[in-house]
Amino acid sequence: MKNSCSRIILVAVAVWLGLSAPARAEDVEAGGALFKKYCKRCHTLTEQTLVGPGLSGVTSRRTEDWLSAWIKDPKDMIAKGDPDALGLKKKFNIVMPTLKGVEDDEARKSIVSFLKENDKKMSQ
Ligand code: HEC
Repeated sequence: MKNSCSRIILVAVAVWLGLSAPARAEDVEAGGALFKKYCKRCHTLTEQTLVGPGLSGVTSRRTEDWLSAWIKDPKDMIAKGDPDALGLKKKFNIVMPTLKGVEDDEARKSIVSFLKENDKKMSQ
């Protein structure tokens, strides 16, 4: 009993640490480089629309899982009927391409870290 209690506490602490850990600087940097390479031609880091929406504030509009799934395969999200994806499609009329180079989970994680860091900066 005592043992399983402490195990639960340990797991809870590990999850909490994982969730609240600040973005690692190297992830943010790698994400920034990927953003420049793959995303910048269509997205600003402000609220200004380019081809797609400006990405300032996007990490408070969407969850990390949503962002990662979207960046991996926007068409699939639309095909699955995700309500936010359908809303974007309606608004922008063109669909973001499924990009080569962001298939890797780590790559998308670093892009999301970069977007989070950008949101932190923009809200200061
Ligand atoms: C060819 C243009 C193009 C490229 C390149 C592109 N996007 Fe997009 N993106 C769009 C468009 C258009 C939308 C609006 C939704 C849609 O597809 O209809 C969008 C939507 C998004 C959204 C949803 C924004 C919101 O308000 O919820 C995110 C996040 C996003 N893109 C991230 C990225 C990232 C990260 C990259 C680079 C890995 C990228 N995009 C590359 C065109 C692009």
